[in-house]
Amino acid sequence: MTRELRFSALAAPGVQALQPYVPGKPMAELEREYGVSQTLKLASNENPLGPSATVLAAIKAAAAQVRLYPDGAGHALKLRLAARHGVGPEQITLGNGSNDVLVLMAEAFLSAELEAIYDQHAFVVYALAVQAVGAIARIAPSLPARHASQPLGHDPEAIKAAYGPRTRLVYVANPNNPTGTWLDDAALRGLLDALPVDALLVLDEAYAEYVTEPGYPDSEKLLAEYPNLVITRSFSKAFGLAGLRIGYSVSHATVAELLNRVRQPFNTNSIAQAAAVAALDDADFLVQSRATNQAGLAQLQQGLAEQGFAVPDSLGNFVLLDLARPAGPVYEALLRAGIIVRPVANYGLPNYLRISVGLPEQNARLLAELPRCLAEAT
Ligand SMILES: Cc1ncc(COP(=O)(O)O)c(C=O)c1O
Repeated sequence: MTRELRFSALAAPGVQALQPYVPGKPMAELEREYGVSQTLKLASNENPLGPSATVLAAIKAAAAQVRLYPDGAGHALKLRLAARHGVGPEQITLGNGSNDVLVLMAEAFLSAELEAIYDQHAFVVYALAVQAVGAIARIAPSLPARHASQPLGHDPEAIKAAYGPRTRLVYVANPNNPTGTWLDDAALRGLLDALPVDALLVLDEAYAEYVTEPGYPDSEKLLAEYPNLVITRSFSKAFGLAGLRIGYSVSHATVAELLNRVRQPFNTNSIAQAAAVAALDDADFLVQSRATNQAGLAQLQQGLAEQGFAVPDSLGNFVLLDLARPAGPVYEALLRAGIIVRPVANYGLPNYLRISVGLPEQNARLLAELPRCLAEAT
């Protein structure tokens, strides 16, 4: 008699209900599936400049040492990050991308019966992390799509209304992906002032290096005032190191010590650590990244406005485009034209596409192809 395979039923309850993360389509996959060449990927909020020459040299040098395990404590990188943020190295936690730290927070602080709060259209990894550990998700409704300044943005009042005695984590994406919306200093302070004593607020600042907006919170200053704050940052965006998977958090030292208990001993690799150190040394590259992004955002916003779309401001390296009709066919038409953008139906936004900022000629190509793809998809 063959034994019945019931692996799905054997999985932990949270895992049984999980939908896996859907990444942006890789270019090689598009080429394989659609037989197109000269593909353009504007789907994963990557940096179109790629890492700087200095960083590439550091990667090459570090590659010579891959026989050895990495420094599991990431000493050199932590010292550099501590100096950058004006904190002690014991307050830094390194992660395999900031995604890793977002998940470590759930593993360290949540369990069944305990609650985490996040916004309805927040970065989807929060939902996955919370569900995987079997904790309770309290989902705060977003601001309306027609909100004057922050359409679909986090609603501080809704988040506060979800606070309760079982709240352990509150995830706030600032700016949020995919909406590009943000909370200003006053709104964030409001959330921190009202935070239950036993809860931590995880402030996800993956795109912070791009931001020049006045009123954007100074999270280092906030951390000095609110020890329950945990700031997460990424090297994947403005630093251009998405493929190496390196990110970190800045928190109270005790929080970092708890995260250190649950992380894998070698959760960040030696090449990523060396590249991150070199990237921190390269201040000019960051200036260039920011300038390229601001020019690209303006180009996309203006080009899309000329095509009749109202594209709200974004503090990230992407825009969220409301097509006012199902986005799937338009996404497919763009794929046939060799352009990968990101459908966001899994964020509860089936009529929207998220478009990452590219180089000027890449943005121009997207803008040139879009009208034809819209027509083709009707
Ligand atoms: C808001 C937000 N947070 C975190 C991440 C994770 O970035 P990484 O794990 O590459 O550092 C992303 C990636 O797109 C993001 O958009």
